[in-house]
Amino acid sequence: MYPLRRNRRLRTSDSMRKLVQETFLTPNDFLVPLFVVEGKNVKEEIPSMPDYYRLSLDNLEKEVKALWKLGLKSVLLFVKVDDKLKDNQGSEALNPDGLMQRAIKTAKNACPDMLVMTDVALDPFSSYGHDGIVENGQILNDETTEVLAEMSLSHAQAGADVVAPSDMMDGRILTIREALEEEGYLNTAIMSYSAKYASAFYGPFRDALDSAPVDVQDIPKDKKTYQMDYANRFEALKETEMDIEEGADIVMVKPGLCYLDIVREIRNEVDVPLAVYQVSGEYAMLKAAAQKGWLDHDAVMMEQLTAIKRAGANIIASYFAKDAVKLLG
Ligand code: PBG
Repeated sequence: MYPLRRNRRLRTSDSMRKLVQETFLTPNDFLVPLFVVEGKNVKEEIPSMPDYYRLSLDNLEKEVKALWKLGLKSVLLFVKVDDKLKDNQGSEALNPDGLMQRAIKTAKNACPDMLVMTDVALDPFSSYGHDGIVENGQILNDETTEVLAEMSLSHAQAGADVVAPSDMMDGRILTIREALEEEGYLNTAIMSYSAKYASAFYGPFRDALDSAPVDVQDIPKDKKTYQMDYANRFEALKETEMDIEEGADIVMVKPGLCYLDIVREIRNEVDVPLAVYQVSGEYAMLKAAAQKGWLDHDAVMMEQLTAIKRAGANIIASYFAKDAVKLLG
């Protein structure tokens, strides 16, 4: 009882605060999302994501090397695909010489020890901007998981270490796992976006990849029939447990900050590594406020990332990874 216990005693100096600090960020915590485009020497800033770029393969190579020098050990690749190559089946996703397949090889060649992870979903390849095949206004589940399995296999063949299905179709982890096993890719890991919410925070990402659902009659304008309702909590645990049963090596909660209750709950319940994706809208909010001088960019960034880890994340996918690691020194 006060005055015997004075909690402020442990906050009296920087050295004392460091002594009792519970949560630490390290470069090993991070996954760096990278956006890849066709072309040569392209480095285009994404308008709704200040200081973040789409890179052509030559610049991807440089970036991977630069990240490795900073101590970052995992990248998560996304590609922006020309409209001409898009169709309802996402056929271009299976092209062995497609942009993703070349990006995987480029990243692996640049730095063989860099873990290369790939986004597995149809949306950047879909003429409708959906994560699955569309028929009569519905997103087909089982037909889509077959394509996702072929896509995962194609990424593994190109050299991906980890495939990351971000589509939220039912049963896709099992279908992918079986396809990889059958072809001998026993060590290709699956990081499942297992509790992925239908979130308005993905807006800037869809600008980056030109992948938003199209505004066309009879085509669903949002992803609410496959991504989760943000009002729900039990469902997140169910999705995650099922993905683990189906063979997911790493599970994920997405977005980050608004969902830290879900992160803690899942961390307490399951025994596989848990990733959290701090998404594009979260990045854009801080950048915009910092540009206006309303928030201290670096201080808020470190507070947010530490909070994500404190909530239970073992892995953080973040557009701030590079900035954060530079600050860690
Ligand atoms: C695609 C995908 C999305 C994100 C990652 N993979 C967008 C979506 O589901 O519409 C969002 C990432 C971000 O906002 O940073 N399936």
